Amino acid sequence: MKKLLFALLLLSPALGLRAEDGHQLWLRPHAAVPVTVVVPAKNSALLATAKQELQQGWQGRAGATVTLTLKKDKAFKYDGFRLSAQGVQAATEAGLLYGAFELLRRQQTGQSVAEEVSNPSYELRLLNHWDNPDGSVERGYAGKSIFWRKDSALVVTNRDKKLWQEYARANASIGINSSVLNNVNASPMILSAEYLGRVKAIADVLRPYGVKTYLSVKFSSPVLLGGLKTADPLDPAVVKWWRGKVKEIYQQVPDFGGFLVKASSEGQPGPQDYGRTHADGANMLADVLKPYKGLVMWRAFVYSPNDKDRAKQAYNEFVPLDGKFRDNVIVQVKNGPVDFQPREPFSPLFGALKKTAVMPEFQITQEYLGHEIDLAYLAPMWEECLQSDTYQAGPGSTVARCTNGSVYRQAHSSMAGVSNVGLDTNWTGHDFAQANWYAFGRLAWNSSAKSAQIAEEWLKLTFQNAAGANQLAASAADWNAKFLTPVAQLMLASREAIVDYSMPLGLHHIMSATHEHYGPGPWWAPPKMRADWTPPYYHQAAANGVGFDRTKKGSDAVSQYHEPLASQFNDPATCPDEYLLWFHHLPWDFKMKSGRTLWDELALHYDHGVQQVRQFQRTWDQAQPYVDAERFAVVQNKLRSQSGNAVLWKDACLLYFQQFSHMPIPAAIEPPM
Ligand code: GCU
Repeated sequence: MKKLLFALLLLSPALGLRAEDGHQLWLRPHAAVPVTVVVPAKNSALLATAKQELQQGWQGRAGATVTLTLKKDKAFKYDGFRLSAQGVQAATEAGLLYGAFELLRRQQTGQSVAEEVSNPSYELRLLNHWDNPDGSVERGYAGKSIFWRKDSALVVTNRDKKLWQEYARANASIGINSSVLNNVNASPMILSAEYLGRVKAIADVLRPYGVKTYLSVKFSSPVLLGGLKTADPLDPAVVKWWRGKVKEIYQQVPDFGGFLVKASSEGQPGPQDYGRTHADGANMLADVLKPYKGLVMWRAFVYSPNDKDRAKQAYNEFVPLDGKFRDNVIVQVKNGPVDFQPREPFSPLFGALKKTAVMPEFQITQEYLGHEIDLAYLAPMWEECLQSDTYQAGPGSTVARCTNGSVYRQAHSSMAGVSNVGLDTNWTGHDFAQANWYAFGRLAWNSSAKSAQIAEEWLKLTFQNAAGANQLAASAADWNAKFLTPVAQLMLASREAIVDYSMPLGLHHIMSATHEHYGPGPWWAPPKMRADWTPPYYHQAAANGVGFDRTKKGSDAVSQYHEPLASQFNDPATCPDEYLLWFHHLPWDFKMKSGRTLWDELALHYDHGVQQVRQFQRTWDQAQPYVDAERFAVVQNKLRSQSGNAVLWKDACLLYFQQFSHMPIPAAIEPPM
């Protein structure tokens, strides 16, 4: 019996048996209120989805009639829609579906509907799955892949389809319209006929929810899969191979979206292996995809072991290529110049590429922000990047505006997020990590949306009237005061707390390499290891101070930013504290804006991070009556682990840095254990 139970437990994620409360995400079922939905005569899967969603989720006036109308209107951009007393109008069927979901969201969160138009900021709102054909997920913390699995890999079961449908529905509800199904470190196998069969099966399930399918491809596929001698993008045999492959894909998936490519990056093959440029490589694929309206998303995540400053390389390689890319190429740029750290300044490529479509890439999965253990609400981090002013086309040229077509003419616009989804019963490993999937979609739809509002919305949809929650919440006002407000505050403070207890004041990349980027490791530097993969390369701690000198006297990375930023970052007196040690190497007794020494300030930040997590624990404990027992206990346990790990971060980093600073730990903070 015990064995059977154990087997069932093991099998349950694979079978798609998900714990009731967690797995429904922000789409909790509601008792249906009768509604009549009038849809355009055309019989389409998308319209059927929109109708069904309204019928099963309607919380408005009983017996109301909602009309979905397809119409051309200058007010609509992409899949934008208008909400009005009559229902939803849009120029596309997908727009009607998004409008339907918006109506339901308004009802469930108690917001009114005035006549209004809502247009997406980006044409493509895209998830990147780092899922491998064997079912593993690179930097995944929520179990195995929902798309691929090792055994009987290519057999498509009804359970697979059910899961993909739930996934697609969740995406549609927040406006996500594109998914890259496999890892950027791509296996060539993904383009084999066998795997393309499964890609077709997935695409068929995602399509009725308006989600288009894309694949990551390995640049050397013509060699590894096609048996050619070269993958040189200018070789006619190579072009012919790609042409044949692309034709084969479109036969299976007629609305296939295109390719995501990581090339000449972190050991991946690429055009540079043949003396060609990123533009040569991207354009070859773009030309092959063009007849089908396919796109190429070409990643700019490049750096090499010999760089004096890794943060500068992407700019150096891509700026000279500006204007050389086809118009169906979008260059995909990580939010910061290094690698998804808890805090980085924005990548200087944003706004600097003026004749090339550029898209931001954010990491939803918490590689550097505590995996599935730490509670990190990431919308504030993404908002910070999107709202950063690049000044590249005058004041107000924010990262959002430089990438969504507002500042530069670009044929396509997109925002990508590296997905945190897996087979875990709650989809994302941590119940609160669902909020990051949700927030990514909301920000891709509206890049001016506010983290606070998104957090509130998500909390209402996810926790209000949760089954099994103790009935203490007598009224909405009570629930708002005792649950919504404090838990939203917790969420909003959570990312900064992680910055504080792990890498404050602009420190970066000092995490442990041996624990897959979880926990502290500023000392880690095995002999013969590539310097740019070791923390000392980044923090440069020594008797004379700490931090990476990227000023004009140092690596001069500051000059990749437009004025007034270059001068502002260059001077420690004007450089924001958050980026201080990113741009400067400063003595331990450097006098901060607060009047404290750098050492004391650093210690206080570490300590503050720890105190914050303790406060989160108290907040969550008080929220108990308003949460179902299962989610309450899981989150409580995770916060307990996070709290211990925060102390570890603080103690380890302070003791490590103290051997260089030789300064005492300030009396005001909790001494190392
Ligand atoms: C990070 C991450 C890798 C990933 C890479 C990328 O370095 O650790 O797992 O492959 O980013 O974005 O390509």
